[in-house]
Amino acid sequence: MKIYKAHILFTKEKDHFEVLENGYILVDKGVVVDVCQSLPEQYKSVEVVDFGDKLLIPAMNDMHVHAPQYRNQGIAMDLELLPWLDNYTFPEESKYKDVSYAKRMYSRFVGDLWRVGTMRTVAFATLHRESTRLLMQLFQKAGMGAMVGKVDMNRNSPDTLTETVEDAVAANEALIAEFNQPDALVRPIITPRFVPSCTPQMLRACGELARKYNLPVQSHLSENRGEIAWVKELEPESKHYGDAYNRYGLFGQTPTIMAHCVWTEGDELEMMKQNGVMVAHCPTSNFNLSSGMAPIRTFLNEGIKVGLGSDISGGHELSIFKMMVYAIQVSKMQYCADKSKPFLTLPEAFWIATKSAGSFFGKVGSFEKGYEFDALVIDDHELNHDHYSLLHRLERFIYIGDDRQIAHRFCRGKEITIPQI
Ligand code: GUN
Ligand code: FE
Repeated sequence: MKIYKAHILFTKEKDHFEVLENGYILVDKGVVVDVCQSLPEQYKSVEVVDFGDKLLIPAMNDMHVHAPQYRNQGIAMDLELLPWLDNYTFPEESKYKDVSYAKRMYSRFVGDLWRVGTMRTVAFATLHRESTRLLMQLFQKAGMGAMVGKVDMNRNSPDTLTETVEDAVAANEALIAEFNQPDALVRPIITPRFVPSCTPQMLRACGELARKYNLPVQSHLSENRGEIAWVKELEPESKHYGDAYNRYGLFGQTPTIMAHCVWTEGDELEMMKQNGVMVAHCPTSNFNLSSGMAPIRTFLNEGIKVGLGSDISGGHELSIFKMMVYAIQVSKMQYCADKSKPFLTLPEAFWIATKSAGSFFGKVGSFEKGYEFDALVIDDHELNHDHYSLLHRLERFIYIGDDRQIAHRFCRGKEITIPQI
C-alpha cells in the first residue's frame, strides 16, 4: 500500500473537477483504493509520501501519434494531407527499414513522451516489423503504457512502403505472438494506415486479425476533403468512409479509435455512435494540414467517445496539455460561427484528455476507486501559485506551464523516471 498526500484534482464527470485540498490517495498494486480528505484510522501506521503544496492529477494519454514522424516534428507545414504524405511523410517513414535509425529516433521519441507527462500512447509505427518491435521494447523498458501498431499499407504508396498482404499478416502475427499478453502495458493494435493505402484484401486481412486475436484497431477517418473524395472513388460500394472500414470489421467490431473525423456527419456519425468508435481529436494537426475543425461538441452531445492526439508530425505539439488548449480554442472559433454549439470548458477538455481517453486502456484516467494509478505531480511554484485557487493553478499550468513543472510521473502505480534508453 502506498499513500500520497497532495492537492488532488481530477474529473469523474465531464464538466466538473473533483478537488481535494491536502487530500490523500491510497494505491495498492497499482490501483487506486481510495481518495479521501482525511486518512482512515486503519491506515494511520502506513508511511505517507507528502507532496506538500504540489498538485496531483491524472497523467496524459496521447490517443494518436506517429512515432516515425518524430524527425519531421515542426517542419513541412506547407501542404495539405495527400501531397504532404507523398512529399514529406513517406520518405521519412521509409528510413525505418534501418533498425539503427529507428533506435536513435524512437529512443528520443519515448523520452519526449515521458517529458511531457504522457504515460499512455496509441501510436502508429511503420510497416517494418523489426523497428516496430523495437519501439514496443522501448515502451516496455520505460514502463510506459502503449498500444503500438505495425502499419499496414499496400497501395498508393512508394515501393519502400508497400508489402504483400501475406507479409503484413505474418509480421503482425509475429508481433502479436510476442506482445499480446493479458494485462500487458504495451500491446499491439491493428493499424491499416487509411483506406487509400490499403486494398480491400488488406482491409479484410486487418479485420480478420482484429477478430482472431481480439485486438483493438486504429486508423484515420474523414480528415481532409480531398481524401474523402478519393475514398469515394476507391470504395464505390461503401456508403461513406466509415462504412469502408465497417465492411471489413474495422469499425467497432473490436475497440476502435479513428483519428480526426473532421468531416464526419450523418450516417457516418450514427455508425460511430452505434459501434462505439472513439474519436482521436488532433486539433494542431487539423490546423497545420488545413484539414478543418472537428465537430467535438456534436460528438459529445451524441455520446461519442473522444480523446486527444498530438498526431506528430501533422501536429507539431507533443504535449496533451497544450492539446486541451487548442481543443478549447477550436471550439471557440466554431462557437463564433454557430452560437448554438457551446465551446468546450476546461473541465470538459481535461475529462476528454484523461477519463474519456483513458477508457480505451481500461480503467485509466481518473482517481476513482479501481482505476490504475497513472499520475503526475505538478510543482508550479514558479508560476506564482500563491495568488491563485487550486483550479486556477491547474488552469495556469495547462495554459502556460510545461514539462519543467512535472516533478513526478506514475504509470500503473510505478514511479517512472527518465527513460534510460
Ligand atoms: N492519413 C494517412 N496517413 C496519415 C498520417 O501519417 N498523418 C495524418 N495526419 N493523416 C494520415
Ligand atoms: Fe495521423
